[in-house]
Amino acid sequence: MGTGPNFLAKRIERLRKTIRHHDYRYYVLNQPEISDAEYDRLMGELKSLEAQAPRLVTKDSPTQRVGGVPDVAFRPVRHATSMLSLDNTFSEEELIAWHQRVAKGLTGAHPTYTVEPKIDGVGLALTYERGLLVQAATRGDGTTGEEVTANAKTVRAIPLRLQGESPRRLEVRGEVFMALADFKRYNDAAKREGGETFANPRNAAAGSLRQKDPRITATRPLRFFAHSYGAVEGIEFETHWEFLDSCQRLGLPITEHASRCASFEEVRKRCRRLEQLRDRLEYEADGAVVKVNELSLQRRLGMTFKSPRWAIAYKFTALQATTQVVGVGHSVGRTGAVTPVASLKPVACGGVTISSATLHNYDEVKRLGVRIGDWVVIQRAGDVIPQVVKVIESRRTGHERAIKPPAKCPVCGGDVAKEKEAEVAYRCINPLCPAQLIRLVLHFGSRNAMDIEGLGDVVVEQLVAQQLIHDLADLYRLAEQDLLKLPLFAKKKAQKLLDAVQASKARGLARLLYGLGIRHVGEKAARDLAEQFGSMDRLMDADLATVDAMRGIGSVVAEAVVRFFRRPQTRALIKRLEAAGVRMTQEAPKGPRPLADQTFVFTGELAHLTRPQAEALVRQLGGAASSSVSRETDYVVVGESPGSKFEKAKQLGVKLIDEAAFLRMTKAAQ
Ligand code: IVH
Repeated sequence: MGTGPNFLAKRIERLRKTIRHHDYRYYVLNQPEISDAEYDRLMGELKSLEAQAPRLVTKDSPTQRVGGVPDVAFRPVRHATSMLSLDNTFSEEELIAWHQRVAKGLTGAHPTYTVEPKIDGVGLALTYERGLLVQAATRGDGTTGEEVTANAKTVRAIPLRLQGESPRRLEVRGEVFMALADFKRYNDAAKREGGETFANPRNAAAGSLRQKDPRITATRPLRFFAHSYGAVEGIEFETHWEFLDSCQRLGLPITEHASRCASFEEVRKRCRRLEQLRDRLEYEADGAVVKVNELSLQRRLGMTFKSPRWAIAYKFTALQATTQVVGVGHSVGRTGAVTPVASLKPVACGGVTISSATLHNYDEVKRLGVRIGDWVVIQRAGDVIPQVVKVIESRRTGHERAIKPPAKCPVCGGDVAKEKEAEVAYRCINPLCPAQLIRLVLHFGSRNAMDIEGLGDVVVEQLVAQQLIHDLADLYRLAEQDLLKLPLFAKKKAQKLLDAVQASKARGLARLLYGLGIRHVGEKAARDLAEQFGSMDRLMDADLATVDAMRGIGSVVAEAVVRFFRRPQTRALIKRLEAAGVRMTQEAPKGPRPLADQTFVFTGELAHLTRPQAEALVRQLGGAASSSVSRETDYVVVGESPGSKFEKAKQLGVKLIDEAAFLRMTKAAQ
């Protein structure tokens, strides 16, 4: 390996190229390919090489600008003051060096500090005018971000209106993120329903915030913490701590782990403490942020090209470890999706022993370039499943073996295929695969589906293994003597399960449709279908255009539904369920339906109801609530500061009513 000037120039150029590539993946595509720790390392290396050779620094080096290129999908928003990033330190020595620079810049002054967790989410700027949320924008490249107001409004932690006495203007900045427990629940449900899962909570937050349809964002469990601000008018604070305090008073969430430190010694202690706490936090934090508390001192310190001198990120040691891939196994989900799982030489990582890591899917295997026998870096965060971060290519011996998608299902031996070329997942296409059957039966019996108590993992595995059930309808043919053959089943337990199975027959069409495990059909879609079709017969005979036209049903769901009911196996199954006495109809929601067949669109802020409450009210009274105005819209309800829907409604000549008129319509109805 050379060390001359030529080598240095080449290495710098390569690093820039790599970093630009990752900036693009991260900022534009929201699909990072490497962990933040790895990115920080690349950037750290580039910075230190450029420091060695200042004449090689170019204006377009990634070290000389704030971020990446903004995406084009959402309206660009220029930030009134740029959204800065933070410089990172990776050790206590570096943190001390930062403190020394601060002390030097502030001779004679005695700053105090704040320490907060550095939340691994997506930066968001919220603009409140006279207390009303008027705009939400992502950070983008720091200068220009994207408007995501509609999506941000669906995040419940973000107040639409501030509490108490509101400033004329407040641009509060913070982090949108998904808590670890919510992330796990979300991914588990996505797996059950055959949807795409996210690799980590940060991707989940970013992907959810960038949905084209705010209704999808609304279903994602996003949260928000405020941590800084942009333009403010009509409110003053002298310290960062006062700002955090004001946030709380105004109803803006802040992290409960923020603390004020009277000395730098306390700062060091607090950083260490947060690092210890890290595994117990509800969300992923990759460091602590230390800020000089007094704003007057912040101003004295000022900023460098891209980050303030008065704040620094103290990065925690990444919970990473190096180990070897000894094999690859596969698990088969309810929808037949085959997930590759790496078996690892057991290794300690952040206090636990890790012996396997998910590889998500075969695109991920290809992206990582991982082979059996490879040495890899794995990473663990909170209780998230360990992941392979990268392959250490320099340790290859040439004896590594490629990881190939299995040609046969590892459980049933049936064929495995990609349904569509564009799809990421390989699926076992044998509908009778026991692995799929077990998961399908568990889903069918789950609380929000047919709610069959006592139909747990062990029982279902035994029922399938003993060949007592081959499809869902067999559940309704189970007799006491069948169950008594199973280990751990006595008369009482058997009778209880049979009673629960019996009771499930009456659950109705919505739960049945959800329980059938049709791809992309979650609880809400199942309810929408059931309410609008009323009976299984009508739904089974509907063509694509009819299903697609239903309220709340998108084209992906419609296609999946029609394809599902076209299959002869499905029709046979439904017949058998019907013969067993399973209810195939849905009663219309109780109560009067005075808004039946009328479509409402809401724009602007309502004074008495939140948007979801208003929409729920419409649906409860038999009407439909839509998020966009068309000729099909019957009424547009106009609140305060209405948006473009108001203009569109005027253009199309749709009837406009105010909130009071809307409330009268619903009251008259109740
Ligand atoms: S303060 C000028 N505080 O980290 C300082 N940022 O790399 C503005 N972040 O863009 C940010 N937790 O999105 C601050 N407690 C915290 C933070 C935090 C996460 C993010 C933020 C920022 C990025 C900087």
